[in-house]
Amino acid sequence: MAGKHVTRDVDTRAVLSVKDLSVQFQETYAVQDLSFDLRPQEVLAIVGESGSGKSVTSLAIMGLVELSSSGRVRSGTIEFERPGGELTDLRAVPERTMRTIRGNEISMIFQEPLTSLNPVYPVGDQIAEVLRVHTQASRKASWSGALELMDKVRIPEAARRAKQYPHQLSGGMRQRVMIAMALACQPRVLIADEPTTALDVTIQAQILALLRELKDEIGASIIFITHDMGVVAEIADRVLVMRNSLAVETGSVADVFRAPRQPYTRLLLSAVPRLGSMADSDTPAPFSLSTEGA
Ligand SMILES: Nc1ncnc2c1ncn2[C@@H]1O[C@H](COP(=O)(O)OP(=O)(O)OP(=O)(O)O)[C@@H](O)[C@H]1O
Ligand SMILES: [Mg+2]
Repeated sequence: MAGKHVTRDVDTRAVLSVKDLSVQFQETYAVQDLSFDLRPQEVLAIVGESGSGKSVTSLAIMGLVELSSSGRVRSGTIEFERPGGELTDLRAVPERTMRTIRGNEISMIFQEPLTSLNPVYPVGDQIAEVLRVHTQASRKASWSGALELMDKVRIPEAARRAKQYPHQLSGGMRQRVMIAMALACQPRVLIADEPTTALDVTIQAQILALLRELKDEIGASIIFITHDMGVVAEIADRVLVMRNSLAVETGSVADVFRAPRQPYTRLLLSAVPRLGSMADSDTPAPFSLSTEGA
């Protein structure tokens, strides 16, 4: 076996490498033998139906399975490249170190920002607090940093909005606040768990465009969790398809969309218009459901 400090090819190295991950709840496995790599600045979509194990995978990466649920990580390694360049198995680090990694090096945004925002503080204060903790900046500098971040995520009238409470903002604006908070940490990896599912289509498209832009700006990699292949086509470079706790297919978005290998992937794709299929038509046409190779 190669040692811990092998020299890796710069082009093929992963920021995050999950190998043979299994997570169990009582008698059943929510995630089984899952392996995937996340490369620098790529967007990896994890797609699959409800209950397939997408969120449990992200909880495991964050080291939150045991802390937040009755589940147990049974096996696997989760190697993460920390800012110094060293590879660390997140399963082996003490909780104290995990607290530094969480938020600072790996950030997460969720489907419903209201559950992650504190209802009793104005949103500007919440962004400023993250900045203050992360950069040790003064209160004043953190506040102006928060306003800058709100501008960056295209929240109009940032100075006025910053003083508002989460319930005073629309869903799309709240999600922008969550993205601003995630960016305040300049994470190497951002995990977005269905961040646009609750939003209407126009706002969803704006948030996806924003995430792509910011990813390039801060040089982060993104794990984007969704059940919508249309969203995968919009944002991802590669896709991992999960079903019943297992990875059933993985590949570049171009390859998987052009030639899905698994019947289940074809089924997911049947719900979205085929890329390029509208060339000769004014209306979108759904994928025909092929049973070939099923
Ligand atoms: N706290 C928990 N206690 C017991 N079982 C759980 C718990 N959390 C998840 N599970 C089980 O693990 C499996 C995977 O759940 P997970 O939340 O990862 O699904 P998901 O793919 O994120 O689905 P969704 O698209 O609905 O968010 C499910 O069968 C679920 O019932
Ligand atoms: Mg989920």
